[in-house]
Amino acid sequence: MKGIILAGGLGSRLQPLTLITNKHLLPVYNKPMIYYPIEKLVEAGIDDIVLVTGGSYAGDFLRLLGNGREFNLSHINYVYQKGEGGIAEALGLCEHYAKNDSIAVILGDNIFEDSIKNAVAEYAKTNTGGKIFLKEVHDPQRFGVAELKGEKVVGIEEKPKTPKSNYAVTGIYIYDAEVFDVIKTLKPSGRGELEITDVNNHYIRKNAMKYEFMKGWWTDAGTFESLFHASELVANSLNNK
Ligand code: G1P
Repeated sequence: MKGIILAGGLGSRLQPLTLITNKHLLPVYNKPMIYYPIEKLVEAGIDDIVLVTGGSYAGDFLRLLGNGREFNLSHINYVYQKGEGGIAEALGLCEHYAKNDSIAVILGDNIFEDSIKNAVAEYAKTNTGGKIFLKEVHDPQRFGVAELKGEKVVGIEEKPKTPKSNYAVTGIYIYDAEVFDVIKTLKPSGRGELEITDVNNHYIRKNAMKYEFMKGWWTDAGTFESLFHASELVANSLNNK
């Protein structure tokens, strides 16, 4: 399995912090944000990754991460995303690197406590379909929200005004190589982006989507509140060790 980290976007919700750097290079407690998804993949045994970024500061990732040996990566590839085409567009740019392998995708501003090692090992037994990770939240309107019926996920709505549940779809996904064909069929959403939620709904319609709940904490870090909260969560978990 290959790893893909999506670290594009303009970080406009974090201005002025993002006027002279990329959001994913900002600190979360004692490390740059981008360290967390890299370490998460490596811990799960994925050491061949692609990092997608964009904007004016893309070169800074190369300066910071180099050839990835410090993180025990065997390969790190860099891909440049022009503009703000969305998460699914960024993922589509990685087809060449994924070849026919399955992929674990992490949004670069998602920080979470749980290991994905077992989920990755379990997925590798069949290497087909999709897998999402859910977390109960008090503000589901900010996220993709999953509707569950019994043991099944029956649909996901992106940032619904009246959510059908409190189960947010977190920014970590596992897919087979078919995902790249799915992305080619997508149309831009109301916000002008190719949505990862549309990709996930495709797998749900095909009855090929599994989910599990995250047990530990999870946050994104794309707003002032969530960036601050991410630092608090990391600091607390380090202090409790
Ligand atoms: C994205 C996804 C959303 C998901 C969230 C997790 O939202 O579109 O489905 O719940 O990441 O952080 P965005 O950060 O693009 O608003």
